[in-house]
Amino acid sequence: MGLLVALDRPGGYEELVGKLCSRVDGFKLGLPLLMARGPGYAGLLRRRCRDALWVADLKLADIGYVMRLTAGLVAEHVDAVIAHGFVGVEGALGELKDYLDSLGKRLVVVASMSHPGAREAYDHALPRILETLERLRPWGVVAPATRPGVVGIVRRRLGPGVAIMSPGVGAQGAEPGSALCAGADYEIVGRAITGSGDPVEAAERIRREQEARLSNCRGTSHGS
Ligand code: XMP
Repeated sequence: MGLLVALDRPGGYEELVGKLCSRVDGFKLGLPLLMARGPGYAGLLRRRCRDALWVADLKLADIGYVMRLTAGLVAEHVDAVIAHGFVGVEGALGELKDYLDSLGKRLVVVASMSHPGAREAYDHALPRILETLERLRPWGVVAPATRPGVVGIVRRRLGPGVAIMSPGVGAQGAEPGSALCAGADYEIVGRAITGSGDPVEAAERIRREQEARLSNCRGTSHGS
């Protein structure tokens, strides 16, 4: 069971990362934060919580050459980098994966997104993106907690060896634990924690809700 906290708003997170470090599994750093503070800020935060999983959410979607250049700016400070799935393997994700492999870093690829507009194009592309993921075999995949059915499709198709991360819990409406019940390894929560008056209490409450939902669904239909 995993909980990743999304840090998106430009701001100072050193204290928050220190407080949440023992309570969550990792942190996902958003583009607004990385652009405002610079890639080195990821390293500064990381020193506050070394054992966590650190993910740079650059939402890369470009040719391999440019994705390598971009990922290279932050890779030394994180464990994993997120890229979009629709750009394909040749000349794009394949090059990025080889580059990250050479650095000992992990590639996470978006299979579909959590917002309603993802139904317009992303969900239609899902069968093709699953083929891409089968060929590419990235370490991780992003699939939406708001549509647990998509999480289940990704899990069944790619098997147990891939780490599935699911945003959409909290501010976007999905209940804590719902994506875990569908087969995700981590739920990504941003505003419901970072925008709370008491982020530590919010993270602990979400943890409890994840546990409760997971123990219920394990007793019924976990993984469906
Ligand atoms: P909130 O505040 O809504 O933040 O909890 C959610 C975080 O997750 C990111 N996000 C996504 N990332 N595919 C992704 O790769 C998605 O479908 C998706 N939906 C949300 C968002 O950038 C924020 O950091």
